[in-house]
Amino acid sequence: MLEEVVGKLKNCSKVVVLTGAGISAESGVPTFRGKEGLWGKFKPEQLASMDAFMSNPKIVWEWYNWRRELIAKVRPNAGHVALVNLENMIDEFTLVTQNVDNLHFLAGSKSILELHGNIYRNKCMDCSALYEDEGDINPERIPTCSLCNGKIRPDIVWFGEMLDSDIINRAFLKAEEAELFFVVGTSALVHPAATLPIVAQQHGAILVEINVERTALSDIVDFHFEGKSGQFLPKLVELLKEQIST
Ligand code: OAD
Repeated sequence: MLEEVVGKLKNCSKVVVLTGAGISAESGVPTFRGKEGLWGKFKPEQLASMDAFMSNPKIVWEWYNWRRELIAKVRPNAGHVALVNLENMIDEFTLVTQNVDNLHFLAGSKSILELHGNIYRNKCMDCSALYEDEGDINPERIPTCSLCNGKIRPDIVWFGEMLDSDIINRAFLKAEEAELFFVVGTSALVHPAATLPIVAQQHGAILVEINVERTALSDIVDFHFEGKSGQFLPKLVELLKEQIST
């Protein structure tokens, strides 16, 4: 079945890959949902929302510092690396990620649209001025914006917030143009990210899902591969290399 997908991929010039927390699971980054998921242990509305930050910014920063420390210790895995290789073989390749862990950049992917922000970036809670490479934030003394004095927060899309309109619009445009659309390691429950594959399919793309379990999308995809992205993606790239060279 993977051979069939590769046979189609070989003839595609416009390919989009949507990734979720599952692609980083093999690196050691916890996913959000499922048995071991972060949202099983913590309440998102108490940590990842503007209300939480307004009422208890200290706890919100402690949580993001903890996640930053965890992410700083991990490395991209074979799945991330396979997507770098895939990008090099496809004319118009776009990687759309819901992940904020920076691992696609670290692996070497170039054409990335980060839908939910990046854990290493900060911004002002009031005027949204960006603060990059600020180093550690002391939750007891949260720095403020040099322009408007607003508190500095992580540049991550929190619950109830809109996505950056430029980024999500570009993602939808790429989804509409895609000939083949991969959905990798996402529960496909969070919108608008989860709408992208549906839009791609409506515009004629072949949908391919890689996940360790079935998801909200599994019934509508053209191909569902049940297993780890760190195993399937390198195999896919190897097969594509073989087919291109024959
Ligand atoms: P979820 O935690 O909802 O889903 C992770 C998916 O990865 C599940 O479907 C797992 O079955 C699958 N999975 C786990 N290990 C895998 C592996 N090795 N290979 C392939 N699949 C694997 O994470 P997301 O779908 O990314 O939002 O969640 C979407 C958004 O919800 C996140 O971006 C985050 C969260 O609230 C924000 O932070 C704004």
